[in-house]
Amino acid sequence: MFASVERFEIIPDITRIIEPNSSELSTNKREGSLSMKEEAERIGMPEHWRPPKIEGEWGNKSFISVEQLTANDFAEIVNMATRIRDTRMSKEQRALFELKSWLFPLSMQTAFYEPSTRTRTSFEAAAQILGLDVVSNPDMIRMSSFSKGETVADNAIVMGEISPVIVQRHPEVGAAAIAAFALQSMTRCDGTKPRVINAGDGIGEHPSQALLDITTIIWEKRLKNANDLHRLHIGMLGDLKHGRTVHSLTKSLNCMGGPAVFYFISPEQLSMPQPIIESLTRGGQSEVVVTGDLAEVLPSLDVLYVTRIQNERFKDLDECRRYENLYRITPEIMKEAKKDLTLIHPLPRRGEIDPRVDSDPRAAYFRQVGNGVDVRMALLCCMFDRPYPNFRNWYK
Ligand code: NCD
Repeated sequence: MFASVERFEIIPDITRIIEPNSSELSTNKREGSLSMKEEAERIGMPEHWRPPKIEGEWGNKSFISVEQLTANDFAEIVNMATRIRDTRMSKEQRALFELKSWLFPLSMQTAFYEPSTRTRTSFEAAAQILGLDVVSNPDMIRMSSFSKGETVADNAIVMGEISPVIVQRHPEVGAAAIAAFALQSMTRCDGTKPRVINAGDGIGEHPSQALLDITTIIWEKRLKNANDLHRLHIGMLGDLKHGRTVHSLTKSLNCMGGPAVFYFISPEQLSMPQPIIESLTRGGQSEVVVTGDLAEVLPSLDVLYVTRIQNERFKDLDECRRYENLYRITPEIMKEAKKDLTLIHPLPRRGEIDPRVDSDPRAAYFRQVGNGVDVRMALLCCMFDRPYPNFRNWYK
């Protein structure tokens, strides 16, 4: 389906790390449970605690924010995902992987305090293809001891005793950091250290989605290196205030040197948070256009990343309804876009993309979902320190 991208290269002088923004711990309280600020106090976590940078060393580290990555870390994931896509396992390789998992059983747990279709299932599929056992907790709020008042931190420690990697989603900002902090001093009986992957923390971040969005842009546009990324005009449309995917994607693109222009298209009340915009202008690589007018900028775009209005983040549903039908991508609107536009969306969609657009070859949002399996396989290989598909290294 795709022309192969053999190796995506990072040009050394743009491998800078963006400064972390202060993302406040949530003070929202749910009935019978602590707020994230209270949880942090309870376990002695400093207010602006961050897990260590990855910088090529993924082992034993939690992955809660794209701010932990350098441009080379992004390239490592993209390149490994590309190899995975191009060399889907043969029957013999699968048999070896299964033997490995019998010899060295390792499991991954998903712990979802918020609904999910794609993220949880693609992590679980990726883990199973790699031969990991999967322990699935799709409804932590109702079906775990969280409903009896157990904290996020204690839940993470308990799950960390059972599995070395926990993929956690939670509706509050900071929940992934709480879990990562609670796990950092633990060592399991087999000597491994448990880690958490942030699969979304409220309006904060969704870092593995950013990895797959970047990979999708590179594959769809057949980019060979980061310089090609700098030529692109990338638009993000919708609820940029509450959408964690656009927060992580913007920071990630910036970390890789940035596109030529970022276009943030939204009603003023739902615009991209100012600290994120400021971190871009500090980097100085990309021009930034903030607008509410899609029609004006659409003809310039190489990539359009559409998002839904995040209705679950609004206190006032009447306010939310005011924004719901502001933007709708239809076949008529697509006529105004470039012939080689890449139209992506993290999904789920509501009314913002007309289903008649699905058959347009430029609509890549369902291919994007499939890419999530390859990218999450690559991420798990890195986190378990197992190069794919050179499985001989399993036995070293
Ligand atoms: C997104 C999420 O959960 O943040 N979905 C996803 O993970 N693919 C986007 C959304 O819910 O709008």
